Amino acid sequence: MSRKAFIAANWKMYKTPGQAKAFVDAFLPLVAGHDRDEIALFPSPVLLPTVIEAARGSNVSVGAQNIHFAEEGAYTGETSVGQLLAVGGTHTLIGHSERRQYFAETDAIVNKKLHTALKHGVIPVVCIGEVLAEREAGKTEEVLKTQIAGAFAGITAEAAAPIFIAYEPVWAIGTGRTATPEMAVEAHIIIRAEVAKLLGAKVAAAMRILYGGSVKPDNATALISEEEIDGALVGGASLKPDSFTAIVKY
Ligand code: PGA
Repeated sequence: MSRKAFIAANWKMYKTPGQAKAFVDAFLPLVAGHDRDEIALFPSPVLLPTVIEAARGSNVSVGAQNIHFAEEGAYTGETSVGQLLAVGGTHTLIGHSERRQYFAETDAIVNKKLHTALKHGVIPVVCIGEVLAEREAGKTEEVLKTQIAGAFAGITAEAAAPIFIAYEPVWAIGTGRTATPEMAVEAHIIIRAEVAKLLGAKVAAAMRILYGGSVKPDNATALISEEEIDGALVGGASLKPDSFTAIVKY
């Protein structure tokens, strides 16, 4: 089955509204008419209106880096799916390793967020991946299976169609140390098999599994051309229009 690649920029806590607008204004002409792949930007919440407005009518989608699982309420500092939808955001990352590491997000929280996103029609990108000590201890497979089972608890095959998974080995994020295509493929095969076990072969075959972790213009082609790798979630190399364009056009 051929799956359309999804190339996404995770800007993390970078850029002011002015810088974000300048990025989009420079980037859109560079990728105009590019329809081989889907393209998305994930800026900080305060940048969302600016980026959505600047990208309106283009081939570039915009989403949040995080949402809260509650629909509204006394959750100081958080963003709801309703707020995201109201400003025109269509996607959200869920369970990025930095959320897990610095904000104590557990698989149970990821699961609640996934349910909320699907209920409201926000397209979720669920991030999973092992830390270095887990890989070195031979526990990568076990960690991925646990994260998938936790994230997908109570999700039905019917509801699962919009979900993306991003495999992001934590030791490769922001370190310049990329998984080799072989390592990434090996992990993606484990992930797809686990999704098949939980949600059936059809859902698994259609699900897009992205790779993330030090994706750069010079390694993007080798990674994304792999049959098992359905796109990329890009941090550092997504901050400049030319380098992100080079990755989009791998
Ligand atoms: P990186 O980040 O490309 O800077 O390694 C990837 C991510 O955190 O999604």
